Amino acid sequence: MQFTSITKRVANLGSKKWLPHLRAKKMAETDPNVILLTIGQPDIPTSSTLIDIAEKSLREGRTGYSNGRGEPNLLSALAKKYSADCNFEILHENILCFPGTQTALFVSIMGLIEKGDEVLVGDPLYATYEGVIAASGGSLKRVKLKKNDGFRLQANDLERSITKKSKVLLLNNPHNPSGAVLSKQEIKDLLSVCKRHGLWIVSDEVYSSLIFKNISANKFFSPLFIQDDFDKTVVVSSISKSHAAPGFRSGWAIGPKDFCDSILPLSESMLFGNQPFIADMTTFALNNEHKTSKIMSADYYKRALKLFETLKDSNMIEPIMPQSGMFMLADIRNTGMDSETFVSRLLREEKIAVMPGSSFGDEANTLIRISLTVPDPDIDIACKRILNFINK
Ligand SMILES: Cc1ncc(COP(=O)(O)O)c(C=O)c1O
Repeated sequence: MQFTSITKRVANLGSKKWLPHLRAKKMAETDPNVILLTIGQPDIPTSSTLIDIAEKSLREGRTGYSNGRGEPNLLSALAKKYSADCNFEILHENILCFPGTQTALFVSIMGLIEKGDEVLVGDPLYATYEGVIAASGGSLKRVKLKKNDGFRLQANDLERSITKKSKVLLLNNPHNPSGAVLSKQEIKDLLSVCKRHGLWIVSDEVYSSLIFKNISANKFFSPLFIQDDFDKTVVVSSISKSHAAPGFRSGWAIGPKDFCDSILPLSESMLFGNQPFIADMTTFALNNEHKTSKIMSADYYKRALKLFETLKDSNMIEPIMPQSGMFMLADIRNTGMDSETFVSRLLREEKIAVMPGSSFGDEANTLIRISLTVPDPDIDIACKRILNFINK
């Protein structure tokens, strides 16, 4: 049987990217000593208030078809939130609702990129970006994110990487896997470069509410906040991280009207709208204050600090303190191992599962990514076992 070229382009870019996690998860099913520090699954439950809202909505019969753009109550909640953040008005026509950031990203890239086009992305990069870009038929142009710059994409590095084919900058701020947060000035500089070269910006902001208060001088700033440049800026995000609700699959894209109008039929062709009871729950989540992201960012900061303090004096592994998010990078080049060898030996010998940097780009093979989404006692055990491993 013959399958299309798109299936070949993404063949190794789906769940295969997560093989180290899947392997460790299987091992953990029979071995309770295995600790999984692999993926960004929030370790606190979705708030019971949000679950109650979803349940009430289900029981009230909000189970029919929606429309392609999104339920009106959710569009209004998103318009209110983004208009307040932006200081100019975001209208329903600027919004499309999706099941999660991932689908919003997929449809946005499919709408902007085709064969012959290039998407600029900072490397290290989030593991699914390669698949999304490959699916569109376009190519990925890596811009090396330097450890010395705190893995923050710099405008001059971006500008140097632009070619005639470049069409979109796919920005991830706050950044996974490094936890870097771009300053207002850095965003402005990146925008100026994009504007000079006629590039779109697609900004993945799924971690915007998980910036660590304690160490980050950087307040979250989005390219969307600069009204003059709104004609080529798209923001994608969701409640997956902010409200510890990834299983609800509730996200959105915010963009100029012509972008949303053109993308809508693509989204409708694939999704035929999303679920009204989830829209009700998301509307409530956006319209009301929740402690979830504050609790998570305090926990993740504390755990990152614990790992940092434990590992910082080792001359084998260099922990890199994140400014946000759910992960911490560590540089393992002094061990002489590549990231995949390090990860498989750490799992085999100490039963600690982390992700190899190689899952996050060509520039990350001397790095490992440690997830902070497990309870404090597991982080304490992980600290001891990682130290034990590198001291051997
Ligand atoms: C940078 C980044 N973007 C997007 C996603 C996917 O988010 P969602 O659950 O909203 O699809 C993730 C999930 O880990 C992520 O880390």
